[in-house]
Amino acid sequence: MNAEPCTYVIFGATGNLSRIKLMPALYHLDVADRLPEGTRVLAIGRRPWDQQKWLDEVRDMVKAKAKDDFDEAIFQRFSGRLYYHQGDISQTDCYTLLADTLAKKEFPQNIAFYLSISPADFGPVMSMLSDKHLFTEDSGWRRVIIEKPFGYDLDSAEALQKRISHYLDEEQVYRIDHYLGKGMVQNVLVFRFANVMLEPLWNRNYIDHIQITHSESIGIDSRGDYYNSAGALRDMLQSHLLQLLTLVAMEPPVSMDAESLRDEKVKVLKSIRPIPKEAVHAQAFRGQYAKGQVNGEKVNGYLEEANIPPNSTTETYASMKLYIDNWRWRGVPIYMRTGKRLAKAQSSISICFRHPPLQFFRDTKVQCMNPNWVLLGIQPEECIRIEMTVKEPGLEMSTRTSSLDASFRNHDEKAIDAYEDLLLDVLKGDRSLFLRFDEVEYAWRIVDPILQTWAIERDFIATYPAGSWGPEDSRLFDKDSQAWRSSLTPECK
Ligand code: BG6
Repeated sequence: MNAEPCTYVIFGATGNLSRIKLMPALYHLDVADRLPEGTRVLAIGRRPWDQQKWLDEVRDMVKAKAKDDFDEAIFQRFSGRLYYHQGDISQTDCYTLLADTLAKKEFPQNIAFYLSISPADFGPVMSMLSDKHLFTEDSGWRRVIIEKPFGYDLDSAEALQKRISHYLDEEQVYRIDHYLGKGMVQNVLVFRFANVMLEPLWNRNYIDHIQITHSESIGIDSRGDYYNSAGALRDMLQSHLLQLLTLVAMEPPVSMDAESLRDEKVKVLKSIRPIPKEAVHAQAFRGQYAKGQVNGEKVNGYLEEANIPPNSTTETYASMKLYIDNWRWRGVPIYMRTGKRLAKAQSSISICFRHPPLQFFRDTKVQCMNPNWVLLGIQPEECIRIEMTVKEPGLEMSTRTSSLDASFRNHDEKAIDAYEDLLLDVLKGDRSLFLRFDEVEYAWRIVDPILQTWAIERDFIATYPAGSWGPEDSRLFDKDSQAWRSSLTPECK
């Protein structure tokens, strides 16, 4: 797919996401010569900055990310693409001026609007863009990128979707889940569908259970307002972790095109057994960090963080167990967990195979063997490992675990930020790594019963010390032999 020159209009350009992700990603695309000639980036912000101030700000954003790779000459070329539009996005004159600016000849008429703003502003901003005919595709395409959270629950997501479809066709909507832009996440598909030896094993006959973990050692930083009304289940599980699950569990799509891929992903979500309200306690667990130590430093508990009410029961840790009721996965439990202020920052998918029969080893020293695991490290360590049992050298018949490594990236290969990939896909019109509304809808359907139960149970929440692996939630596991796996190297039992 070829990319045509376009104007990227960024709402919320002075905010955190733009600083740490969007502007550095656009710069890196320019470094890689992937921005089509003539591409422009128009930043919208409320601050009374002039063009020079904006360029200085962007230089700082890019330098902070690029570090030693920062190249002043390329930045000069990049800055030729940058414009600052000062305005209050709740006021109509902001859009009148915006329409005048975008009509100028230096701006390509293919326009991508990136809404990096509060979800409450999505509707009003779209309405005002539409009033100024900025979505009309007479002279070029118009695309709108919507950041998560897409709604607050199923009802609000449906309401938002209704509003969006009033202004835009589905082909114009790019619902972003930045996890799909991560190289290792895309590698999950390659690993599964480009290696023939896996497919016969990838099912309930051989797999005991699947775990998906996203742990963070950071707390909520300055995001108290947002986080306290969201919580870990909405913030990570409903979106990123369920997306990872779809990639691990889906059937092979007919092709990589957007519809085929998303058809298969949504089938997984639709096949997940609904959690009845009375089973919420058996299938989900929540916790909140108390004060503790992270990397040797004392840190506050959640309730001491800025902008958090002293009696908040918002969860900073959430775990749950799901079952996919289809032919491939029936009966295989899927365990997922995420949390802030945990012992280590790590995203991984761990697939545990069934135990082999031990008959062959009767009368030897081998008492018990670890099952095989496939470990997919998403970040910070990007790896694919298959753990096998091998004989320990020596005169005895004893065994140990060894792992086969299929590294994703060599040392001399640079990491590419997820946003680079996704911002480029918008230019190309490739929606395969963006969410279709039914994916969002079914993801909400899965977590809604849990959210509703937790919303009324506000008297108590389990706590865990910051820097630990979270609260004691082993009751989620189906068997004694199952437990959270936190390491990507062989664990001796
Ligand atoms: C965001 C969440 O969507 O993803 C954050 O709102 C979380 O709370 C972040 O920290 C994690 O993303 P990444 O790419 O750092 O793993």
